[in-house]
Amino acid sequence: MAADRNLDDFAWWQSGVVYQVYPRSFQDSNGDGVGDLPGLLARLDHLVTLGVDAVWISPIYPSPMADFGYDVEDYTGVHPLFGTMEDFDRLVAAAHERGLKVILDYVPNHSSDRHPWFVASRSSRDDAKRDWYVWRDPAPDGGPPSNWLSEFGGSAWEWDEATGQYYYHAYLKEQPDLNWRSPEVRAAMLDALRFWLDRGVDGFRVDAIHHLIEDEQLRDNPPNPGWREGMSPTRRVIRIHTMDQPEVHDAIAAMRRVVDSYSGDRLLIGEAYLPIDQLMAYYGTDLSGFQLPFNFHLLSTPWEAKALAALIDQYEAALPPGGWPNWVLGNHDRSRVASRLGKAQARVAAMLLLTLRGTPTLYQGDEIGMTDVPIPPHLVQDPWEKNVPGLGLGRDPARTPMPWDGTPGAGFTSGKPWLPLGPEATRVNVTAQAADPGSKLALYKALLALRRVEPALSVGSYRRVSAEDDVLVYERAHGGRRLWVLLNLGRDLAMVDAPVEGAHIRVSTHLDRDGEPVAGSVRLRPNEGVVIGP
Ligand code: GLC
Repeated sequence: MAADRNLDDFAWWQSGVVYQVYPRSFQDSNGDGVGDLPGLLARLDHLVTLGVDAVWISPIYPSPMADFGYDVEDYTGVHPLFGTMEDFDRLVAAAHERGLKVILDYVPNHSSDRHPWFVASRSSRDDAKRDWYVWRDPAPDGGPPSNWLSEFGGSAWEWDEATGQYYYHAYLKEQPDLNWRSPEVRAAMLDALRFWLDRGVDGFRVDAIHHLIEDEQLRDNPPNPGWREGMSPTRRVIRIHTMDQPEVHDAIAAMRRVVDSYSGDRLLIGEAYLPIDQLMAYYGTDLSGFQLPFNFHLLSTPWEAKALAALIDQYEAALPPGGWPNWVLGNHDRSRVASRLGKAQARVAAMLLLTLRGTPTLYQGDEIGMTDVPIPPHLVQDPWEKNVPGLGLGRDPARTPMPWDGTPGAGFTSGKPWLPLGPEATRVNVTAQAADPGSKLALYKALLALRRVEPALSVGSYRRVSAEDDVLVYERAHGGRRLWVLLNLGRDLAMVDAPVEGAHIRVSTHLDRDGEPVAGSVRLRPNEGVVIGP
């Protein structure tokens, strides 16, 4: 068998861990109740102590905030709410000094309707930028050109009285879709990448990439026989003509060429919620696409040993040659893991995330076990919840401010936070958990530290050992070192065979068994996971 490669032979984003900051809710520095870049800078050491490698920052660009920054008014600016370009440069320098990479969010599918490009485009049918967006004549009956639906509810077509055409928006009407079939749009959007790469960013998380291109013939999407009352209205149709169109790969490859033309291992991560077989195409022909097309399948797979083992096997088997895996347990769009699985099981989930083969992405606050905060109707901010209320689609509960300490503003703000802190903030906060050796934060730190000293856990091979009842067991190996991960996904005690010679417990989710020798089998308490190894 060929010797394993040295850790140094891997790119930083292969062995590293990404941490997502939702900047509105990370740290406020000026008392306006909204997080900002100086705040993030002041908290960078939290990321260092935690032990992650890169920070991905959700959008910080000028924006009317119809979709909280995912409606960009200027791709090469900083919103005054977040600070200035000088603040941004300082942040990048401070991150780099600490050995942290900086990844920005890039939103190519749509701009804000206030972007000067769209303002020009809608000004007249003859404007030079008319075809920078997707404009179409009405259907013969005067209605929208097709049955396409917006992700956030209602038709995806918005009528423009002044110029007598509809424009397409996959998301809000305030987020008109850019027309990536226009070479000028492409050039302008690739320039935006260059702008930030020149300022030293290490990569981008590319937003909503599966929506980038739609069917040119505007064919109707077929009805979805699986749709039921209570599901998102956009799922009434199967989005075969509005998502995952083949031309998207050419656009991604163009983005990748720009990123690759810069020194260092710059990274492109793609956001595409797609089944595994479709997702694989986003690595691109001969890996010319994203280095990491986000793998969101842990968010939707039933939390059962057999289902998880099957997911991991299916994903590993589907990867293209040389394609690097990655895993996600939470983000600013989904219910928090501690709410989905419960607090005790969220510890097991953390162990899974940080011991699977591939790059993990952590969402801010999950490291202290934040749960979804119920938002009373009068405080709702998310446009999705406002457009389609009551279905549980709103994303505010997972976006509440990070509690740093037990004071009234939780150390997040001296003012009134833009979303409520939630009832747990006085207990579930960074300061309290830093002082508690058994805390969720301590577990994350222990797992990240173990991952750093044991390359088997970051870049090693993966082998399923067993998935029986509630217990999932797998092996990670590298450079002659073998580690086993034993996860009890259930509420019963479990005895697990572990014939690993000379092994002991390296870490338990309960943080109270370090160094315990393993003699042939391991007893797992309810909701307990352990990593065993030499
Ligand atoms: C992505 C973002 C989400 C945003 C949407 C539209 O899914 O993660 O927050 O609303 O794209 O940009």
